[in-house]
Amino acid sequence: MPAMTRFTLSPDGTILSLTALGQTARFHAVWLRDNAWDETTRAPGNGQRLIALRDIPADTTIRAATLEETKLRLTFSPEDKNIAYDIGWLMDHSYDRSTPKETGWTAPHIRTWGSELMATLPVAEYSDVKNNSAALHTWLTQITRYGFGKLNAGPVEDRALMNVVDLFGFVRETNYGRHFEVRTEVNPTNLAYTGLGLQAHTDNPYRDPVPTIQVLYCLENSAAGGENMVVDGFASAQRLRDENPEWFDVLSRHCARFEYAGEAGVALRSRRPMIELAPDGGLSGVLFNNRSTAAITDVPFDRMETYYAAYRRLGEIIDDPAMEVTFRLNPGESFVVDNTRVLHARNGYSGAGTRWLQGCYADKDGLLSTLAASGSTQTPAAQ
Ligand code: FE2
Repeated sequence: MPAMTRFTLSPDGTILSLTALGQTARFHAVWLRDNAWDETTRAPGNGQRLIALRDIPADTTIRAATLEETKLRLTFSPEDKNIAYDIGWLMDHSYDRSTPKETGWTAPHIRTWGSELMATLPVAEYSDVKNNSAALHTWLTQITRYGFGKLNAGPVEDRALMNVVDLFGFVRETNYGRHFEVRTEVNPTNLAYTGLGLQAHTDNPYRDPVPTIQVLYCLENSAAGGENMVVDGFASAQRLRDENPEWFDVLSRHCARFEYAGEAGVALRSRRPMIELAPDGGLSGVLFNNRSTAAITDVPFDRMETYYAAYRRLGEIIDDPAMEVTFRLNPGESFVVDNTRVLHARNGYSGAGTRWLQGCYADKDGLLSTLAASGSTQTPAAQ
């Protein structure tokens, strides 16, 4: 047993304070009991909890505690239940934090970025991630860290984007189909129409839930220009917060409205804030799409001017070249974007040619599951 491991128990047995592995953390008796891994609490095969909270007495306390090597053994009253916990697992799952996080915080694995990321673009080769689980793990880790990842040297064939989705998850079908075509014929006789770019946006904010992953796959690109561009919505929201907390606040507290009714039989509508926060202030999403923003009617009259000032400024931040990462997609190249965080756009064209991309949506839970399951083995607390 490491010399620095020790514990104290509150006189009433409701709180255990554990010092181990260089940190001290307090745990509640009911939390510890609920997180027991004995075979009557958790199914040995799949780890699912076999009991409900109602099966744990509300007056549960810790009657006794002893240290055994890397384990802490507790006896609970009134059940008279004896459980051994892995000390490493306990410290990994400590919840004893006192410093409040700043509103708009992001998880430790997330790195926000601006145009400097162009120097180290998250990118992988298709054959590597397809054939090598370590390479796939690295690429998926980058996607969760930066909110997007490029994939090079894939096959140039119809619906090759499905191979990309197959790497980590499942297609989310919508009224646009399992995939959609993004074809542009750049007309050399009328270049006035060829320079159109799109403002960076998240896709389909009018859906609830929004598609969480988008894949865009290039099959032809002979046009000059037309590079793809991505912007970190989290970095943009945090910049707005740092410039003007009131503007960040108004966009996160009040819902915008989004809608799409561009085809017969379809009337998609949603009511979501442009900056989404978890109840504890963590950034959970950004929705920004000038083409599908509907009349905003959920902002109090007295705050609407502030709301519009904030909305305008967020758009300016998103348009700032210092926030943009651009890259060209050549045939066989694609990118995967976290549509809840990273905005994407297409720059304007400057010449003749054709551009053919195919796109589809998928769900982020599948990607995160594939990543977690391929990661380092996480052992549950041993008995
Ligand atoms: Fe889009």
